[in-house]
Amino acid sequence: MPTNEPSTIDLFTPLALGDLTLPNRIVMAPLTRNRAGPGNVPTALNAEYYVQRASAGLIISEASQISPQGAGYPATPGIHSDEQVAGWRQVTDAVHAKGGRIFIQLWHVGRISHPSMQPGNALPVAPSAIQPAGEAVTYTGMQPFETPHALASEEIPGVIADYIAAAQRAKDAGFDGIEIHSANGYLLDEFLRDGTNTRTDAYGGSIENRMRLLDEVVTAVSTVWPTRAIGVRLSPENRFNDIRDSRPQATFEAVVDMLRGHQLAYLHMVEGDMLGEERQVDYPELRRRFGGLYIANNGYTRASAEQVLQQGDADMVAFGRLYIANPDLPERFAQGASLNTPDPDTFYGGDARGYTDYPTL
Ligand code: PHB
Repeated sequence: MPTNEPSTIDLFTPLALGDLTLPNRIVMAPLTRNRAGPGNVPTALNAEYYVQRASAGLIISEASQISPQGAGYPATPGIHSDEQVAGWRQVTDAVHAKGGRIFIQLWHVGRISHPSMQPGNALPVAPSAIQPAGEAVTYTGMQPFETPHALASEEIPGVIADYIAAAQRAKDAGFDGIEIHSANGYLLDEFLRDGTNTRTDAYGGSIENRMRLLDEVVTAVSTVWPTRAIGVRLSPENRFNDIRDSRPQATFEAVVDMLRGHQLAYLHMVEGDMLGEERQVDYPELRRRFGGLYIANNGYTRASAEQVLQQGDADMVAFGRLYIANPDLPERFAQGASLNTPDPDTFYGGDARGYTDYPTL
């Protein structure tokens, strides 16, 4: 069990994660790349991209919508149709054949969508009718966000049912586990944080109420997967997608106390703010309270990753940008080799260029 005590663990110390043995503690972070095929179905190119990164201790797939309503960006993969399951199957089979391990990240974008991305051109859904600042990425370019439809209490069971169906499809698709995306301003995070949740029913108000939906979703997917194969991602003070909480430390202490009771595979933490605000949250304290395996994420380098492991403040470290450009990141770290530089122009959308053509050593 994690102790927050100094340790001699490094990135290459193997780790038991549920039924899996990870050969290293280097995690490929979930990365939206907008290269799924028609019908939001994963393709052979997507399989090649993941296979190239199979030496990661664990791959966490790009965020994948649980339902058509859960989509908010072009060409992101889904996990709600039989065709998508078949597409993902070629990814998981290829990663496993290469000796790798892969979880799928289950996503509902909530209000970070646009009617043109929604079934029947409906409004995106959210805990409360609060319009995000900024613009949605749509198939016809950037368009201003609209004020979302506040989910009625009676609509929430349908969202939970979509999580259960997606969890089952993830199993059919051959994944090793699932990660519930409750970070970065998407639906579950919108319920957690008081800047986006002003509900007056059982899902709003007190933090106990605001975290009810996440608790119910974790309980629901636990009927499909053992909890040792379920992770959760949080981002207590990330402002990305125009979200905030008035008391992030207190809110997320309550959230991790609740998650502790679920005996999960891991807690995956986007530490700090992607937009550059200074850190206020005490992450070692959140980790201590959670009591299980902790993945640190957000801007880590090899040196800062080794440091957080040696301080005893994390068990694994997830790398995003470095994994875009370095398919053989563990080998490069092991050899102290130089790293390829990621090209932001090819992060989102396009073809093999900037996706599967970064060189290995
Ligand atoms: C993105 O598409 O930019 C994106 C998706 C999921 C995240 C963060 C960013 O969690």
